[in-house]
Amino acid sequence: MNLQTADRLKKIPPYLFVELRKKISRAKAEGVDVISLAIGDPVEPTPGPIIDELCLRARDPENHRYPTDEERGMLVFRQEVAQWYSVRYGVSLHHGNEILGLIGSKEGCHHFILACINPGDVVLMTDPGYPAYRASILMGGGEPYSMPILAENGYLPIFEDIALQVLRKARAMFLNYPNNPTGACADMAFFDRVVKFAKAHDIAVCYDNPYSEIVFDGQKRLSFLMAEGAKEVGVELNSLSKPYNMTGWRIGMALGNSGIIAAMSKVKENTDSGIFNPIQYAAIHALKHEGAAIDHMLSIYAHRRKMVLETLSRIGITFDPPKGTFYLWVPTPSGMNSLEFTNYLFEKTAVVVAAGTAYGQYGEGYIRISLTVPDDRLREAMARIEKEFGVTIQPPRHKDPKRRWI
Ligand SMILES: Cc1ncc(COP(=O)(O)O)c(C=O)c1O
Repeated sequence: MNLQTADRLKKIPPYLFVELRKKISRAKAEGVDVISLAIGDPVEPTPGPIIDELCLRARDPENHRYPTDEERGMLVFRQEVAQWYSVRYGVSLHHGNEILGLIGSKEGCHHFILACINPGDVVLMTDPGYPAYRASILMGGGEPYSMPILAENGYLPIFEDIALQVLRKARAMFLNYPNNPTGACADMAFFDRVVKFAKAHDIAVCYDNPYSEIVFDGQKRLSFLMAEGAKEVGVELNSLSKPYNMTGWRIGMALGNSGIIAAMSKVKENTDSGIFNPIQYAAIHALKHEGAAIDHMLSIYAHRRKMVLETLSRIGITFDPPKGTFYLWVPTPSGMNSLEFTNYLFEKTAVVVAAGTAYGQYGEGYIRISLTVPDDRLREAMARIEKEFGVTIQPPRHKDPKRRWI
């Protein structure tokens, strides 16, 4: 027998973290004390009261059934999401047709593509960018088009640089600020530019915002839907994964344009049958009562961020750190590209970081460090790096002043 697998899968590179996990497992099996700063997955547990709510609701047999009437998410969940957006961002959303419960925002990216594009349509995405966008576009038969995001532009795309023949075929666009991997944040002026650009070229926007709450140094928490006209051009995705340490729970939401929400709901209705009710009840509890847990996590990340930045500075790496996400986007030393520096760190210190090029060609010259590791492990990782690079490494030849080393 010769069983076939789909050609569309062949276009998709292996998922970054699958390869990384294999590398880490191999080293661990050889007895190496590996510290991974590569993956953005909080180690702190989900706050206890959220777990209690899940357990309580899981005991009710009513919650064991298909959520048949409410594939868009339970009414009470959508109402709570609307309330959360109103309180956190001053955005008004109707629970009836502008909110859809998701199994995480990653699922939303995929369903957005299935809902909005036809085979051969161009979909704009940033480079560097979250790898799942490219995979979703390719699985949906679209053509990814990378918009470079560079330090000198605050890691924002320059829409004027996109050729007209690309724009003619472009039907959708992914944006994500606070940005994975760069940590960059957008502002209201950028949102206005996005709305104008999307309207001018009939482009549906998927604003992926799972780090909306993870900001530092006075950076304002923003939703794309705060911009005038945003609901006309697209949807925002958000998630409980990062703010409430709930990555494994798989719960998020799509919000905004009612036409896109209806189309995504149609995809979902024919794919899965909604989110396990007890998880939705637990999410309601989180949104309603656990704001302090977000502040607590932010103070932990701020402390770790400082620790890493101070270490980097002591070994000669200084740069303007962007103000969002729990990642640091760090320039590589002169003479070493992203992969070489990543491999060098792994071989010399058993510290794993993500090579910038894993997020696109414009990630060259950077590595990404994640702060979602316990303090003591991060301290140990920094001590190893500092020991290895005890002597200040050579300054790089980067022309960009934001990537200055001293
Ligand atoms: C930019 C971005 N979008 C989406 C996700 C996935 O989030 P969720 O757990 O809600 O699916 C991640 C996770 O790392 C991310 O970095």
